[in-house]
Amino acid sequence: MTLWGGAFSQPTDDTVRRLNDSLRFDWRLYGADITGSIAWATALAEAGVITATEREMLINGLERVRAEFVAGQFVPAPTDEDIHTAVERRLGELIGPVAGKLHTGRSRNDQVATDVLLWLLDAVPRLSALLAGLLSALLIQAEQHTGTIMPGTTHFQPAQPVTVAHWLLSHFWALARDVTRLEQFADTWRDKCPLGSGALAGTPYPIDRQRLAERLGFRAPSPNSLDAVADRDHVAEFLFAAALIGVHLSRLAEDLIVFANPAFGFVRLDERYSTGSSLMPQKRNPDPLELARGKAGRLAGHLAGFLMTLKGLPSGYNKDLQEDKEPLFDAYDTLIALLPPLTGLVRALTFVPERMRAALDEGMLATDLADYLVSRGVPFRQAHGLAGQAVRLAEAKGVSLSALTLADYRTLSDAFGLDVTQVFDFDAAVARRGGFGGTGEVGGQIERAHAWLTGRDMDTSDTF
Ligand code: ARG
Repeated sequence: MTLWGGAFSQPTDDTVRRLNDSLRFDWRLYGADITGSIAWATALAEAGVITATEREMLINGLERVRAEFVAGQFVPAPTDEDIHTAVERRLGELIGPVAGKLHTGRSRNDQVATDVLLWLLDAVPRLSALLAGLLSALLIQAEQHTGTIMPGTTHFQPAQPVTVAHWLLSHFWALARDVTRLEQFADTWRDKCPLGSGALAGTPYPIDRQRLAERLGFRAPSPNSLDAVADRDHVAEFLFAAALIGVHLSRLAEDLIVFANPAFGFVRLDERYSTGSSLMPQKRNPDPLELARGKAGRLAGHLAGFLMTLKGLPSGYNKDLQEDKEPLFDAYDTLIALLPPLTGLVRALTFVPERMRAALDEGMLATDLADYLVSRGVPFRQAHGLAGQAVRLAEAKGVSLSALTLADYRTLSDAFGLDVTQVFDFDAAVARRGGFGGTGEVGGQIERAHAWLTGRDMDTSDTF
């Protein structure tokens, strides 16, 4: 028996039922669904719609259903369309006809919207905590490598020397923004508890929606019932945040894939975080990194796909909205599966400073050569040109910049002095960029990264 069969004389076709049913993926909303129902039963009693005894029966029964789920003993019935019908059906079996009072003044439309929000509000801190683990792995490595110098790139061409700590922290801050973004999104969700919106027009019972919202951990009820049952902004926002995390992880992964290639040899991947080839014994494959890169596409796809689902939907609830859950859960599961191995991989990463140093080319100090001329009073545009000519001259002579003689330099400009040799020092080039956020200021960056990480309360509890 379904919950809505009253006006129908024919059963739903089996193929339609299979298409329609969502229990196989929305069962994981059971905790949120039961918590929401308990709050609703309480609100109904407060409004005088049900008695205190009925409220107690409903709540006790709901807790028994929850216990069955938690123990893995919940047995779905073939008629369970979704988690909401499954919980209500089981409640009826356990406590009898009073179960039928729970859905008074409520619709699955405001119910599912509330459930998903509750699930998300619970999921975000867990994701943040895993991101924090990766952030701290990056930070610990950065602390070890404030003095290790590597080629920094633009256009993936050697550009200027940077410290390994600087490179690591570039990824740290991108992912830190992701944590902030998730928390900010989640904070706005607290202002729109949908429960009490009914199917679309609101509820006819005198429910105190403010109190109901607060009971569920929200700050306020949703301001418009028609909007509330169709609003999936929180799903789209989560999918965007997840997609951007995917993008950030894929960029970190790509850097490391390149650095681990023997032609670079900047890093060695720990054996526990790489895989072998079934054919070529010499290979050490960066599979977890490739999967991080690959899954970014899947995460971005979920966002794009779900935005297409939403576009052009008519007012109110439409069944299309049931399509929110699979991408949502998959995006979450993908990140939950990805972050721990990436964190372990970063922790176990070995940097090879000699290889990085060997990859430094004095051409990467050409900007410093221009800055040297600037310090001697040459306008930067002209200095840039002269430094370029020096690079050409060195190339023509087949030597490095530092191997050009003062006489060579003087053929280009009188502004060059004997102290030009001081330019050709990679450590000094790094140290010169000591302004806020520069590679010569990684000490300050590390302090700020620490302050950022300890300044947030990374809750790892698991409610639903
Ligand atoms: N399983 C549905 C969903 O996820 C629940 C809401 C169903 N509402 C309805 N009017 N059929 O969207």
